[in-house]
Amino acid sequence: MVDPDIDHVLLSAGEIEARVAAMARDIDRRREGAEITAVGVLTGGFVFLADLVRRLRGPVRVGFVRAASYGEGTRPGELTVEILTDREIEGRDVLLVEDIVDTGRSLAGLLRTLAGHRPRSLRTAVLLDKKARREVEVPLDHVGFPVPDEFLVGYGLDYAGRYRNLPYVGVLRRSVYEGGG
Ligand code: IMP
Ligand code: MG
Repeated sequence: MVDPDIDHVLLSAGEIEARVAAMARDIDRRREGAEITAVGVLTGGFVFLADLVRRLRGPVRVGFVRAASYGEGTRPGELTVEILTDREIEGRDVLLVEDIVDTGRSLAGLLRTLAGHRPRSLRTAVLLDKKARREVEVPLDHVGFPVPDEFLVGYGLDYAGRYRNLPYVGVLRRSVYEGGG
């Protein structure tokens, strides 16, 4: 059943599941050390993180970071990064797990902050890559799908806090955020 607020499904639950499994195999093949510390970006990264770590075969630790940007109007705001599992970074092989890269600003800020905590290695796994909107170059080691410049929800992605639970990634109907119906 597709939510009535969804214009169309971009990636089905089955397509995502297959791609996440393939990404996990690739991550296992390219492990630098025995153990990976998968660090999910709250809140949107939590679904991808949960599915990804259950597909990894070697030892895994799990941590979380939160990034928030407080901007006024269209000015890009300053990024605040909170590491919720501080002592888990130093000396670890960290894999930063994010739902989507858009301008790249969040990921760039997160990588800068995490690097400051001296991990042994630092890599990224991103499910969705909205390449057309990139403003800052960021190293993407594992990418799930390139996606078009549309507003997406589901599989962790939200609009105003909703739709994160949808098992697929869908394009949100314009009427939902432009009002009027
Ligand atoms: P960036 O810093 O511009 O790369 O922004 C990335 C963040 O913006 C993601 O972690 C999401 O929280 C949010 N974002 C970007 N595009 C979408 C979208 O299509 N739907 C929902 N959230 C999005
Ligand atoms: Mg996010």
